[in-house]
Amino acid sequence: MTRIVVLTGAGISAESGVPTFRDAGGLWEGHRIEDVATPEGFERDPDTVHRFYDARRRAVANVIPNAAHRALARLESGIGPELLVVTQNVDDLHERAGSSNVLHMHGELRRALCTWCGARPAWEDDLADRPPCPECGERMLRPDVVWFGEMPYHLDRIEQAVVSCEVFASIGTSGAVYPAAGYVALAAAFGARTVELNLEPSDAIVPFDDARAGAATELVPAWVNEVLAGS
Ligand code: APR
Repeated sequence: MTRIVVLTGAGISAESGVPTFRDAGGLWEGHRIEDVATPEGFERDPDTVHRFYDARRRAVANVIPNAAHRALARLESGIGPELLVVTQNVDDLHERAGSSNVLHMHGELRRALCTWCGARPAWEDDLADRPPCPECGERMLRPDVVWFGEMPYHLDRIEQAVVSCEVFASIGTSGAVYPAAGYVALAAAFGARTVELNLEPSDAIVPFDDARAGAATELVPAWVNEVLAGS
């Protein structure tokens, strides 16, 4: 039974050196979303899209989890499967920090998706040189990330957890992309206490019960201490 749902976004990985999307200098600043993050962009120019995600996969391999990721892993050690981390991030910093109950709603950089057979193999290397799918052998792999216009992963499980949790915490996300941006309203409607830990107040559609502004590496360890002290 999920008691606490934590929704994370790019802000939790920012202090590890992974760029966010919408901040100044963010990832979308140098790219048109429709070119690198839509199925149509991939169809038009797969080489550019592969190079974009190959570069991000390499960059993420060279960074390490920060105090905020580690604090959430500590929370899981304390309360076990009552904690569910739902992340919009495609990096694997939650897992590398020690969290195991993590749902990647926007997919994972370290996984490929075979558009021929549907396999989703773990993937470390570049995709631009069109390696064969380990399942079917076709050279039809794409990054296993959810692009604009595609259906995010695990929606049923996430919604079930959001409507039944006691605490919903949103960390490092601008609240600009749905359905994730709608979870705070859903959690509040079903009686959860809502908390935001973000560098600045987000564009949330309903106010959080408790909104804290600051860096994730400071706010998250402090909040985890409070939760563990109260549980
Ligand atoms: N600590 C806490 N919050 C931070 C920090 C930090 N060190 N640095 C930045 N932030 C906050 C920003 O203030 C912003 O509100 O993190 C948020 C990042 O917002 P976005 O760049 O919009 O990232 P995210 O919300 O994860 O984006 C959602 O959009 O394009 C997509 O698929 C992509 O999953 C992504 C989705």
